[in-house]
Amino acid sequence: MTDDELLARADAVAANAYAPYSNFHVGAAILTRDGRVFEGVNVENAAYPLGICAERTVLSSAATAGVRPGDVEAIAITASPCGGCRQWLHEWRLDRVTYRRASGDVVTHTVDEILPDSFDL
Ligand code: THU
Repeated sequence: MTDDELLARADAVAANAYAPYSNFHVGAAILTRDGRVFEGVNVENAAYPLGICAERTVLSSAATAGVRPGDVEAIAITASPCGGCRQWLHEWRLDRVTYRRASGDVVTHTVDEILPDSFDL
């Protein structure tokens, strides 16, 4: 599975986003090192801060299936990941993060590139 194919999966699943408040539909797809693909979308809530981003949905779904930090090779996201999700991507030690910038350009970065001097406990 290429990063472009992973982004195509993210684009397709974005249709399932539950985003009645922002109307900003986000899809994310991850590729595990053993070749599995998981998908996630943003899920909003009337109490706005309780909504969850697509990246955290997909990682939570993978965690539920037993996937752990270090097991995920790549993620593709239909939008630029927010600051909090960048910290999640750091925790999960992904090799590559592909996303579509607001300009429409698609870029691939390491987590260190998009979250320098990250926090560890
Ligand atoms: N959103 C994501 O799903 N991922 C991000 O990294 C950026 C923001 C969602 C959260 C909210 O449902 C909507 O986009 C608008 O902020």
